Amino acid sequence: MTDPSTPSAEDLSGSIVVVGGGGHACAILDVLDGINRWEVLGLLDPALEPSTERYGVRVLGGDEALKPLVDRGCNVAIGVGQVNTSSPRHALFQRLREMGARLPAIVSARAYVSPRATLGPAVQVLHGAIVNADASIGANTIVNSKALIEHEATIGADCHISTGAIINGRTSLGPRTFLGSGAVVLQSLELSSDITVGAGAVVARPLTRPGTYVGVPARPLP
Ligand SMILES: CC(C)(COP(=O)(O)OP(=O)(O)OC[C@H]1O[C@@H](n2cnc3c(N)ncnc32)[C@H](O)[C@@H]1OP(=O)(O)O)[C@@H](O)C(=O)NCCC(=O)NCCS
Repeated sequence: MTDPSTPSAEDLSGSIVVVGGGGHACAILDVLDGINRWEVLGLLDPALEPSTERYGVRVLGGDEALKPLVDRGCNVAIGVGQVNTSSPRHALFQRLREMGARLPAIVSARAYVSPRATLGPAVQVLHGAIVNADASIGANTIVNSKALIEHEATIGADCHISTGAIINGRTSLGPRTFLGSGAVVLQSLELSSDITVGAGAVVARPLTRPGTYVGVPARPLP
């Protein structure tokens, strides 16, 4: 395995590191194992002891270890998830972009993404998810395990479509929107930015205001 701590100018464009050491990092490492496209050098998280192991890979350090890797062309996968707020994941995405990091879309070998669909940088499509024809997924959005994005749906940047959620055809979601597990959004609806939809909700009408919506049909959480 390439030793990322060696001070050589070796090109690392065939390698990848995961930034973040929590549960989402665990899921992303599993996706990376399955696609076998990049050599996984390890993960970076300032809260973890360098040179230890986490999820079977080496902890490379914190922020100080990131820039030298990025400068050598190493790809980066964001291992920070998004549940209550999109802010930490978005801030990390912005910082990595400013650093010039390569942030490829990452698609599980067990997902289906139509060749007619469009994925932005740092999009992550996990096991069993489907992104159908002419769907478009904005930068840094997570399409989690078994989620379904139907034809011509448009998902903004920094969204999280949680496990098993369904977005039907021609529906559009604004940026920073979170869909809980198993939530369903009916076809041809428009949802504004900064919306949270609770697990199991069914969105049957357009949602024009940021806020949290739960239930069947989905109503604002008082
Ligand atoms: C909707 C959600 C974001 C609300 O979280 P919250 O603001 O912390 O709200 P609370 O847990 O305090 O619940 C507030 C009220 O809404 C109800 N509620 C919470 N989530 C609900 C849901 N999904 N459907 C219906 N009612 C829900 C609670 O029972 C509570 O009702 P009460 O006031 O009568 O007791 C959260 O409950 C949720 O569904 N998160 C999604 C989790 C998920 O899918 N994670 C996937 C990760 S991949």
